Amino acid sequence: MCGIVAYVGDRTAYPILIKGLQRLEYRGYDSAGIALFNSGIHVYKCKGKVKDLQALARDEDVGGSVGMGHTRWATHGEPSDANAHPHRSMHGTFHVVHNGIIENYVHLKKELMNRGYVFYTDTDTEVLANLIEDVYREQEVDAELATRLALTRVVGAYGLVILCEEEPGRLIAARKGSPLVIGIGEHEYFLASDAMPIIEYTDRVVYMNDEEVAVITSESLDLKDLYNDVKTPDIKTIQLHIDSIDKGNYAHFMLKEIHEQAHSVTDTFRGRIAMDESKIFLGGILDVMPRLIEARRIIIVACGTSWHAALVGEYLFEEYARLPVEVEYASEFRYRNPIVDKDDLVIAISQSGETADTLAAIRLVKESGATILGICNVAGSSISRETDAGVYTHAGIEIGVASTKAFTSQITVLAMMAFLLGNKRQALSVEEYRVLIRELTRVPALIAEILAGEEKIREIAALYKEVTNALFLGRGILFPVALEGALKLKEISYIHAEGYPAAEMKHGPIALIDETMPVFVLATSDKLYEKVVSNIQEVKTRKGKVIAVATRGNTDIYKLADHVIEIPPCHEALSPLLAILPWQLLAYHVAVMRGCNVDQPRNLAKSVTVE
Ligand code: M6R
Repeated sequence: MCGIVAYVGDRTAYPILIKGLQRLEYRGYDSAGIALFNSGIHVYKCKGKVKDLQALARDEDVGGSVGMGHTRWATHGEPSDANAHPHRSMHGTFHVVHNGIIENYVHLKKELMNRGYVFYTDTDTEVLANLIEDVYREQEVDAELATRLALTRVVGAYGLVILCEEEPGRLIAARKGSPLVIGIGEHEYFLASDAMPIIEYTDRVVYMNDEEVAVITSESLDLKDLYNDVKTPDIKTIQLHIDSIDKGNYAHFMLKEIHEQAHSVTDTFRGRIAMDESKIFLGGILDVMPRLIEARRIIIVACGTSWHAALVGEYLFEEYARLPVEVEYASEFRYRNPIVDKDDLVIAISQSGETADTLAAIRLVKESGATILGICNVAGSSISRETDAGVYTHAGIEIGVASTKAFTSQITVLAMMAFLLGNKRQALSVEEYRVLIRELTRVPALIAEILAGEEKIREIAALYKEVTNALFLGRGILFPVALEGALKLKEISYIHAEGYPAAEMKHGPIALIDETMPVFVLATSDKLYEKVVSNIQEVKTRKGKVIAVATRGNTDIYKLADHVIEIPPCHEALSPLLAILPWQLLAYHVAVMRGCNVDQPRNLAKSVTVE
């Protein structure tokens, strides 16, 4: 949600900033801008994408070795040239790029207007620029102190980079609630919302903590908190490689990521399953294992696709570890007064590890004494750092805004956790445990088989690309997959789609069914198969079109459904890992055929770091 990149060092900043913005564009893409120190501060910004910014700056002198850039996902103020970042303070002393929301900006703006400040944009960020400038002028302090003093008055979230016209050669950065990473090079520093723009230059990074302010020159990094306490930078080494952020031969990141899933699921369990398939080893939760075994209840908090994975987790933990589970939308949970105590296990699931609501949900339960675990994909992310323990999904960087491989890796982690806890709590026999592990290791080959059948799914996509509504049905452990299928279709193709437990259809949605309504049904051969067949009959009786995902070898389903997509047989516990693949491919091809921007769907951003 908004991407920030900044540079100070010996090199020309402009190409580093542009490349960095391109790598961050998945976080927001409605406007872009840069500010460069080049005998004074020069700003280039416009509505549109980074390529529009490049066109704008093409004939300009874009020299200078200090600068910052921003790619925006609009919150306050519609996408426009004026509302694009960086924002300038009224007297031009400060330029600011910002990710987050200043909640008390209306109040601060009024106060500044009474003091003679004039505003030229609709953004909360301009308020911040003027607030810092006001403190700087009135209190005659340096830019760093002005920033710290101003920020003590701010309510809300920010990842900020600031340039002060009167203090060339330095960047000031501050973080509260919105991530910022500092990259350390030789006589140079980088700053970004995540590590993507940095990994090409260095693997040494510092993740800023909330309420920290950094002053950075080409030779120094000084870190303190808002209240002037000096902090020692905690330097980490990151393991990301530049190849992992390339589309390769794929037309879109989403397609590449769909096709990576045989590997990404393998990467998720690699080194965590004993060679003889008799044991699961999750190093990240080893220290808290006694508390997990004793836990009385699991509460899983998440948003979006991660919430769907959590629902699959509910089935897995209840069935195989015999532990009661509650799955919560993090955004709702954080504003309730939930009853949580030391016997609870709270699990936060988040691909990015930065989702504001999920982060707030775990902060809410910190005092309860519950054990808090994270299941995150991004190493070093806020959620992974703020939980007691956790398991990384190791899915590799996910760039497509529509989450695909993160989902299957999250389910893989949940399955491993559920089986392991089932074993430790003696809810599973040794033999059942062994079978489940063996079945999990078979999944990547089955994923590859399904993905090889992409052409048939593309043909089905061509038949339904013009529909305006769609229904996705599933039962049992596949109900969350129906929700996820509907989310995939709606978020990238803008077709209205709903996911339902198949049996719920007759309590309302059945009224929607006529000959124009495609109904995408998960009808694999499991214990609820016969029930799903009845639900399919109900659709067909009302002339709906049925597109079924069914287990290979089931010939009867061809008599019922209009189209059948076969998937190989697998253990029911792991069926979500296979059943989602046709819906991911279907959504992708429908969106491409409709001319939609698959990797950057309208109004969305990859990482939702604001509420
Ligand atoms: O990074 P997170 O897993 O916390 O993100 C949660 C949701 O924002 C995310 O899954 C979103 O729903 C995706 N666009 C779905 O494809």
